[in-house]
Amino acid sequence: MSRSYKIAVFAGDGIGPEVTREAFKVMDVAAQLGGFELEREDYPHGSVHYLETGELFPQQVIEEVRRKDAIFLGAIGDPRVEVGLVERAVISGLRFHLDLFVNLRPIRLFADKFCPLKDKSIMDIDFVVVRENTEDAYAGIGGIFKKGTADEIAMQQMIYSRKGVERIIRYAFEFARKRDRKKKLMLIDKANAIQAHDIWTRTFAEVGEEYPDIEPEHAYVDAACMWMVKNPEAFDTVVTTNLFGDIITDLAAVLQGGMGVAASGNLHPGQVSMFEPIHGSAPKYKGKNVVCPIAAIAAGQMMLDYLGEVSAASNIECAIEKTLCSEDVTAVNASSGIPTDEWGDRVVEQMRQL
Ligand code: IPM
Ligand code: MN
Repeated sequence: MSRSYKIAVFAGDGIGPEVTREAFKVMDVAAQLGGFELEREDYPHGSVHYLETGELFPQQVIEEVRRKDAIFLGAIGDPRVEVGLVERAVISGLRFHLDLFVNLRPIRLFADKFCPLKDKSIMDIDFVVVRENTEDAYAGIGGIFKKGTADEIAMQQMIYSRKGVERIIRYAFEFARKRDRKKKLMLIDKANAIQAHDIWTRTFAEVGEEYPDIEPEHAYVDAACMWMVKNPEAFDTVVTTNLFGDIITDLAAVLQGGMGVAASGNLHPGQVSMFEPIHGSAPKYKGKNVVCPIAAIAAGQMMLDYLGEVSAASNIECAIEKTLCSEDVTAVNASSGIPTDEWGDRVVEQMRQL
């Protein structure tokens, strides 16, 4: 009997459905070639569903997707809805309720031509950001007092539990070991200004003692941004807080060509996990068939890898690389001149030739 995986799909808003369609176009071929099946169940949740029905993200959906093998998400966000409302409900909802404490964001440049940095090549940009994904300012502890008055006070707590910090740091050390490249792990924080970050400093030192083969490094987030642009080759594996991880991975994504290629996995090792491109819903491009879906296709690759379909995943990666290296591909954004559906066709074509 062939292997079969149950996938919950939230195609979402804006360009979400288009890039999701291309990701499954590629994954379905990978499945066919690899002798397994993806049993897809689509969920409508997102901003349009909210506008039409008033429903955000019911608990029952969380319980349903908990029983799937994996979750794929396209993009969430619509300017017609209050800022952050649906993102918090669906994206953060999945991250919190399923305790997806790792946000894994690989940064790899596939071809020199996509790098905005002078004199940097594919040899220089290949690192992984391990972003904590369930705490920090995202925990939702905060609010506004006396809103709209002269005495208004707004606050949002950055919270870090010992358990939360320790498990992400341990995951990152293990990852650096398994990755087996430079065997370095860099902690990025802002302990010189944010006193609470001392918990990261101490935990990193303590857990690091269990990994004598991994060289620990440290950078404050401001300096890390500077180094990432100046010397990206110095990075191997990075571990950081939820908020800093969010910010530095947009910067890092640009080094690999842009949001059109950057993918991520929201993981709880051993449990149902969620995969998504790191870009947003880009409403202005919705339905225009112009955006580059490689990020979503790469998220699909990460999903298959997580499901244990390692050779199918590596075939997708190879096919992405070949597609991007083709001479007539000069950009991986909405101005590439390559329609969204043609990107998927090209990757499929490369995969069939492997
Ligand atoms: C991301 C996004 C989300 C985040 C938003 C949409 C809440 O920017 O996945 O990087 O900040 O985590
Ligand atoms: Mn982000």
